[in-house]
Amino acid sequence: MSQRLWGGRFSGGPADALAQLSASVHYDMRLVPYDIAASRAHARVLERAGLLTGDERERIIAALDDLERAVAAGEFTATIADEDVHTALERGLVERLGALGGKLRAGRSRNDQIATDLRLYTRAHARDLAADLLDLCEALTAQAELHRGTPAPGMTHTQHGQPITFGHQLLAHVQGFLRDLDRLSDWDERTSVSPLGAGALAGSSLKLDPVAVAEELGFKEAAANSIDAVSDRDFAAELLFVTAMIGIHLSRLGEEIILWTTTEFGWVELDDAFATGSSIMPQKKNSDIAELARGKSGRLIGNLTGLLATLKALPFSYNRDLQEDKEPVFDSLDNLALVLPAVTGMVATMRVHADVLAAAAPLGFSLATEIADWLVRKGVPFRDAHEITGAVVQYCGKEGVELHEVPDDALAAISEHLDPSVRSVLTVEGALAGRTTPGSTGPGPVADQLAAVTTRLASWREWAEA
Ligand code: ARG
Repeated sequence: MSQRLWGGRFSGGPADALAQLSASVHYDMRLVPYDIAASRAHARVLERAGLLTGDERERIIAALDDLERAVAAGEFTATIADEDVHTALERGLVERLGALGGKLRAGRSRNDQIATDLRLYTRAHARDLAADLLDLCEALTAQAELHRGTPAPGMTHTQHGQPITFGHQLLAHVQGFLRDLDRLSDWDERTSVSPLGAGALAGSSLKLDPVAVAEELGFKEAAANSIDAVSDRDFAAELLFVTAMIGIHLSRLGEEIILWTTTEFGWVELDDAFATGSSIMPQKKNSDIAELARGKSGRLIGNLTGLLATLKALPFSYNRDLQEDKEPVFDSLDNLALVLPAVTGMVATMRVHADVLAAAAPLGFSLATEIADWLVRKGVPFRDAHEITGAVVQYCGKEGVELHEVPDDALAAISEHLDPSVRSVLTVEGALAGRTTPGSTGPGPVADQLAAVTTRLASWREWAEA
């Protein structure tokens, strides 16, 4: 008898070209622990349905345990003739148990098995991803703590806008990653549905117990519709959206670090262990990690759009197109598992040049808004205050002076509302200290934000390790 799970009605074996095209075993063997966990649950259900004796169930579970061990030890390897992980594992079971190994297939199909396996795999790996993300958030937060009071240029359009604290900017990146963690746990809730019991598409005439299987496998519930159970890949697409979004957040952080480490900015220097050199220019220190973080976002987005295109217009229920779900999911998770620890190390070890940042903070007339706000506090409509401040900036540009250097008579000439006391607001420290509302860049709100972020990270850590 061939090891194929579907040979009965065929007179010959598959053409080599078909076998090559059809095989997924070269990448789906990583599902072994999940497929075996589902098989254990299925064996117990078959016993309760009276389809296996207690002794048979025991021997099957012992063989599954041994098979799992053998795969992990490299003693059992799949070949292309196995086609996929399910076929390979059935072969392993039959090698161990003879005909008894063939009993486990009763009441299930590769269609409900693969949907179950991928849900189990992604749910487990989402926790690992969350743990890696948390490491990065903690590195960013530690730098933010160090630089909670370091003045820096805050930018819009990559031009100096208003002074900020560097810690506030670093925490802005953490906020995005915290939303990614929210998305992961929302996703996990929705993915906590067990397809096993759906069989090929219609459920089973055997007395299976999908609810008990769901519970044993850590799912909240069993699927409500067997057709949906084997056809739905929303969970894979959604996870790919979350990973793409994480990639986009990483690319934005990477892009900033690339800018910060340029000679032109000079805000940050990378540790030697997290930077690379050039094969021809001996002086170079390149931020390749930040660039790879930026570059990888392309494939993460591609994996999402590729799977969405595969799913579009697929008729119910299972179609072989769905086999295309696994590689993008594995690729996105694998790549984030590579990128995140590297970015974390880079962030944790980078040296921030607080003096350069502080010196740059007031440049580009970044305190001009303070003049406008000062005028508003004196009752001048903001529309006029904006015009008046614009005239001050114009004067500075023409005379080559900074805002606080505009002479008394020039102030008076620009507007009757201006007087020398306006200079009291023209310091970076004053501008920062004045920003006391929640979420703003002043030292008070940044301290509150740091405390809140630290609490949230700790509770996410519990989730990731659960
Ligand atoms: N390798 C297949 C997949 O990944 C398993 C399901 C195959 N089912 C089938 N009817 N050919 O989707």
